[in-house]
This record gives sequence, C-alpha cells and structure tokens, in this order.
Amino acid sequence: MAKADIIIRNLDLSDLKDIVKVEKLSWPEELVASEKKLRDRLETFQEGFLGVYMNGKLVGFGTSQLINYDGKARGWTELTADGWISKTHKSGGNALHLVSLGVIPEARRIGIGKKLLTERMRLAKHFGLKYIVTNVRIPTYHRFCSSKEKGNKEISPEEYVKKGMDPLVKWYMKQGFKIKGIIREDANDPESRN
Ligand SMILES: CC(C)(COP(=O)(O)OP(=O)(O)OC[C@H]1O[C@@H](n2cnc3c(N)ncnc32)[C@H](O)[C@@H]1OP(=O)(O)O)[C@@H](O)C(=O)NCCC(=O)NCCS
Repeated sequence: MAKADIIIRNLDLSDLKDIVKVEKLSWPEELVASEKKLRDRLETFQEGFLGVYMNGKLVGFGTSQLINYDGKARGWTELTADGWISKTHKSGGNALHLVSLGVIPEARRIGIGKKLLTERMRLAKHFGLKYIVTNVRIPTYHRFCSSKEKGNKEISPEEYVKKGMDPLVKWYMKQGFKIKGIIREDANDPESRN
C-alpha cells in the first residue's frame, strides 16, 4: 500500500467547514462542540489549534489555550468556561491547556492523535511554558462497570483509574502526563459517567 501523505499544521477560519465535519465525526453526539465554540477557539488562540491532513483530507485536530496553572486539578468545564476559551485564555499564562483532541474513527490507531499531542508539547516548549495540562475522559469506565465479564463490578472512578487499565488514561501517561486528581463534571459524557 502507498504511504499516506500526512501534514500537520495550524488551522484557520478558512478550514472551519472541515473542522465542523471532523468534530461531528470524532466525538459522541453529546460532546460535539458547536461551530461557534470552534470559531471562538480559532479566534482566541490560533497557534494552539492544530490539524492533521491525511492525503489532503482533515482527519483530526487538537485545540488549546494558555492558563495559569497552580498545581491543583480542575475540571474542563471550569477551565474552559464550558468550551468558550475566549473567557478563560490567559496570554502570558504559565501552562498550555489542551482543550480538545479528536480524530475521525477511520483514521484512528495509526498515531494521528499522538502527533497532535506531541506537536502541542513542542509548542509548550517553544513558548517556554512550565506546564502542559489536560483533562482526560475515561470513556471505557461505564462499559467496565456494566460488563459482568471477568468479574467486573461497580467501582468508583478513583478505583477504576487506580487499576491503571483505562486505555486513554494509559495513553496520556505513556506520553509523560501525571494524574493530579479525579474530577466529577457537570457534563454529558455517559461513557465516562461524567
Ligand atoms: C483519543 C483519540 C484522539 C486518539 O486518536 P488516535 O489517532 O487513535 O491516537 P493514536 O493512534 O496516536 O493512539 C491511539 C491510542 O488511544 C488509545 N485509546 C483512546 N481511546 C480509546 C478507547 N476508547 N478505547 C480503546 N483505546 C483507546 C489506544 O490505546 C491507542 O493506544 P495504542 O495505539 O498505543 O494502543 C481518538 O480515539 C478520539 O478522537 N476519541 C474520541 C474523542 C476523545 O475522547 N478525545 C480525547 C478526549 S480526552
């Protein structure tokens, strides 16, 4: 098979149509950001808005903002004003906060997500920031508690994360992230039980 042509670059308002399409394909329906929110992220901090094109087609993107991180774990809703980063972005902040990361299902598990993560880590270094911070869903938590195979049972999110088997959390930890806390969100993410 021919090698895929993969390009990672900053996105801008001229990419908005593709961005909206990719957002809808990447996230569970309840968590899809509106076009207005995506535009707000582009207009607020375009340097932190990166996309991956594969063979000329946008297949994933990651958004970010700058915040002042004080070492405490805070929820996504609070850190982003529910996704409106124009209300929370602090130019001159000490940390790059990764606001979102999504890749369309047909392009997953080939390293696109990792590329978007490492490129934003490089951006944090380039800005001389002290921290890189993110909020991670635990999208296999509900499935774990409700499946009876291997003796699984209802456990708290703390116990679940401590088990160290959540694939998404494991993946972030492999890139060097450390867990600071488990936050209960006023969100609509049934897979992670909010
Ligand atoms: C998380 C996401 C961006 C990863 O994108 P990707 O291009 O597949 O990323 P990569 O190919 O670099 O790595 C995929 C890793 O994600 C892990 N992973 C993430 N979510 C997973 C899930 N729900 N189930 C199983 N594995 C998952 C896999 O373990 C895999 O690691 P591995 O290939 O080393 O085994 C993509 O799954 C996605 O868009 N999910 C929906 C939106 C979302 O939840 N975003 C993250 C918010 S914290």
